[in-house]
Amino acid sequence: MIMQWTDVLGAEGVSTKDIENMGNEIENARMGFMEKIKNGEIGFTNLLNVDLGNYDEIKKYMEEFDYILIIGMGGSILGTEAIHEGINGLYYNEHGFPKVYFLDNSDPEKTCRVLNLIDLEKTLIFVVSKSGNTLETLANFSIIKNILEKKVKNYEKNIIAITNGGYLKKLAEKGGYILFNIPENVSGRYSVFSDVGLAPLSCLGINIKELISGAKIMDKLCKKEDVFENPALMSATIHYLMYKKRKNISVIMPYAERLYKFGMWYRQLWAESLGKDGIGQTPLVSLGAKDQHSLLQLYMDGPKDKIVTFIRVNTFSEDIKTEYGEGNLNMHNLSEIINSEQLATEMSLTNHKVPNVKIILEELNETTLGMLLYMYEMQTAFSGELFGVNSFDQPAVEEEKKLTWRLLEEGNYGNKRISK
Ligand code: PA5
Repeated sequence: MIMQWTDVLGAEGVSTKDIENMGNEIENARMGFMEKIKNGEIGFTNLLNVDLGNYDEIKKYMEEFDYILIIGMGGSILGTEAIHEGINGLYYNEHGFPKVYFLDNSDPEKTCRVLNLIDLEKTLIFVVSKSGNTLETLANFSIIKNILEKKVKNYEKNIIAITNGGYLKKLAEKGGYILFNIPENVSGRYSVFSDVGLAPLSCLGINIKELISGAKIMDKLCKKEDVFENPALMSATIHYLMYKKRKNISVIMPYAERLYKFGMWYRQLWAESLGKDGIGQTPLVSLGAKDQHSLLQLYMDGPKDKIVTFIRVNTFSEDIKTEYGEGNLNMHNLSEIINSEQLATEMSLTNHKVPNVKIILEELNETTLGMLLYMYEMQTAFSGELFGVNSFDQPAVEEEKKLTWRLLEEGNYGNKRISK
């Protein structure tokens, strides 16, 4: 994985000098975060040291089932989805085994559709919630559990609960489900390398050893003191400086469809971690080359309030030649076309003075995806220090959660506003 920031430098972007001038601030941010790891306040970096052998047992257990159902919300599910799609690819359920479904919303049509698609008796259910109290997760789980209870003898064996407490933990203990813990010092959106992600992913054929080895390679780089050698610290610094120059929007633009869900994971990580105290850079996900034909016009010619990060994959796992007949299109691989489009977009943005950086993956596999996810976790953590916000809590989200519970208790299904 290579990170290039050439085109962020210059009049509209940041110069090497700007970064050098920040010296102390960058070092304080790095040290501030390292201190939080040292004193045990933050635990996501320690997840890389756990024994992965335990996941072989879950993989074996999975052999009794044909389907996996993952129920969760936000940080409890987005990373798992991102890695699953990043590695297993598009349209997985049409050719892959076991089939997998993700339930992360309170949309009744989605839940009913999923119920029609799976045979619950043959389904291993992962219900994931750090707090154990998230409404959508509990609602979907209770629907599934009630059906299971009526239909399946010893249905407890179909359920794995992953939580740190709350109502879900009580249910799991009472019901005798398999129970995994999420460490207290690991926040939801930083939990993908814990049981939250690794348990279901190991059942989905993901090579979690390579995933973690990628994250470990990145961890080493992210410990470097020199900002120019530390990709997460560098990217955090660039985004911070750009925000100071009113680049309020951070666009991530992968040129590989398998990375779209990664973009959705990043969106939550960046927004929920840094959007607080009146501060925050709005994350947007765009997909290359598709969004060249929609959002690019705005990025290039609209307000100069964005910094764009391209993600490019050099070698695709499958490729195919165009058979157009005549002219320039003939004899190009699709990979050559999509990567030329990436470069053309990058050059056009630079010509229009839109700052951009680029991450190049030689291939998209478990190792590079592990590196990428971990780099963004570290980048977000460093950014929290630079911006002076706590990037591990989410008070506004909690406020909304409480209010929804209250409305439901009062039987107010969205018809009447109430004061706090
Ligand atoms: O990152 C976070 O902390 C949040 O997005 C949570 O993951 C999300 O709100 C779900 O919470 P919980 O895991 O407690 O069910």
